[in-house]
Amino acid sequence: MISLKVNGKKYRLDVPKDTTLLWALRDHLKLMGTKYGCGIGECGACTVHVNGKAERSCSILVGDVQGKAITTIEGLPQNHPVKQAWIQEQVVQCGYCQPGIIMQVAAYLEAEKNPTSDKIIKKMDDVICRCGSYPRIKKGIKTAIQIKRKEGRKS
Ligand code: FES
Ligand code: FES
Repeated sequence: MISLKVNGKKYRLDVPKDTTLLWALRDHLKLMGTKYGCGIGECGACTVHVNGKAERSCSILVGDVQGKAITTIEGLPQNHPVKQAWIQEQVVQCGYCQPGIIMQVAAYLEAEKNPTSDKIIKKMDDVICRCGSYPRIKKGIKTAIQIKRKEGRKS
């Protein structure tokens, strides 16, 4: 039995320890927002947070993340600055890559004390959008930073 903590809930799964986190999330927990792209850690479509860090769930085994806090796109609050920015800037085209991209941006935004779009865009070099929505992704990142700053001033 494997114990996983996903989006704040605890689950026990009857899967082998070498099951990838991606398939545990999709096939067993039915959290379909996390996508399969390449399966080899190259595209970013499967990105989730593990203890707040962006990680590629296709390249992680469930046995290695027991007891860690896993967050998927479904667990990122609807009013999160990145989700707000993505709606505002209408970033999505087909949408397939976007949950992974949003999770990456959200983790980088959290990790940077003084986030700038240049810093975050540089870190996004290794994600792939087959629709080529990169200009809108960049716009979304800029807007997410502005929203986060505004919210920081209010609190
Ligand atoms: S499916 Fe995991 S990085 Fe491509
Ligand atoms: S929006 Fe279609 S793959 Fe990125």
